[in-house]
Amino acid sequence: MEKIQINPQTCIKCGHCAEVCPSAILRQDESNKSIFIEDIDTCITCGQCVAICPTNALIHQDFPAETLHQVDRNELPAPDAVELLIKYRRSTRAFSTKPIQREQLMRILEAAHRAPTASNMQKVAFTLVTSPEKIKEITEFTLDTFASALQKLQNPLLKPLLKRIMPDAYRYVPAFKKLLKGYEQGYDGILRGATALIFIHAPKKSRFGPMDTNLAYQNASLMAESLGIGQFYTGFVLAADAQSSADRLSQILGIEGKVFAGMALGVPKYRFPKYMDKKTIVFNEL
Ligand SMILES: Cc1cc2nc3c(=O)[nH]c(=O)nc-3n(C[C@H](O)[C@H](O)[C@H](O)COP(=O)(O)O)c2cc1C
Ligand code: SF4
Ligand code: SF4
Repeated sequence: MEKIQINPQTCIKCGHCAEVCPSAILRQDESNKSIFIEDIDTCITCGQCVAICPTNALIHQDFPAETLHQVDRNELPAPDAVELLIKYRRSTRAFSTKPIQREQLMRILEAAHRAPTASNMQKVAFTLVTSPEKIKEITEFTLDTFASALQKLQNPLLKPLLKRIMPDAYRYVPAFKKLLKGYEQGYDGILRGATALIFIHAPKKSRFGPMDTNLAYQNASLMAESLGIGQFYTGFVLAADAQSSADRLSQILGIEGKVFAGMALGVPKYRFPKYMDKKTIVFNEL
């Protein structure tokens, strides 16, 4: 079977499929308006041609009937509701010990998986961590990396050189010291008592891995907010991974790819009764 088939009996030659195809595979003959197919190998399997066809005349082998769903725009949240969801979403750093329901975690992952990817590659993958031992291992890997960095930054022989070549690194010295001391005293300032982590990864060399994974992150964070689940971005863990030589985070997670985004989640201990304005938007118009 051809990858794409057009039923000549039901095609009304509206040309919508040709207009929306990002790869210009579907073309419309200027004289008789029929649709022809060119360079099918460049199809990115986005399904837009199938989704737009008003008569179901276009069949794509990667989108059988059971993968298609009717759109009802009346079901969408109103813009005011979307705006409030965006405004209410905050980073949560105080969690209760109550576990997150599995069904909620799955909805958060599904939301992340729905995000767009460059050329519709869909190479983004997710690792969910709920094991307290693994969470501890990730915190300790992060803190060990920071402890080594601190040692280097404070080495009297290296300090004059490092201050010159990487002055910004010294900004983190107080934070590293506090995190290490806090952990000694029983507080994990890296993962802050999160009961679940979602690491978002992509093949190591993928050109758009950082973009794809971080778009997935934001979908997930909004879904988490709507479910009443708190989350924050695991920047410290990612910073440690960037510093470590041997892809330690990927090793700990047992994955092939590279982690470009990470989320710590938990049931919030408190709810913010207020939200605040952001700095004034920087906005240019041409
Ligand atoms: C790339 C990135 C890294 C971050 N790393 C951390 C982190 O390691 N720990 C943490 O508590 N928050 C982290 N955050 C959360 C930011 O501090 C937070 O988003 C910012 O202060 C704005 O607050 P809000 O998310 O509540 O609006 C990170 C955010 C981003 C975008
Ligand atoms: S699936 Fe996307 S890229 Fe492929 S033919 Fe349809 S619209 Fe074009
Ligand atoms: S969208 Fe459907 S009906 Fe319209 S030209 Fe394409 S195949 Fe024909």
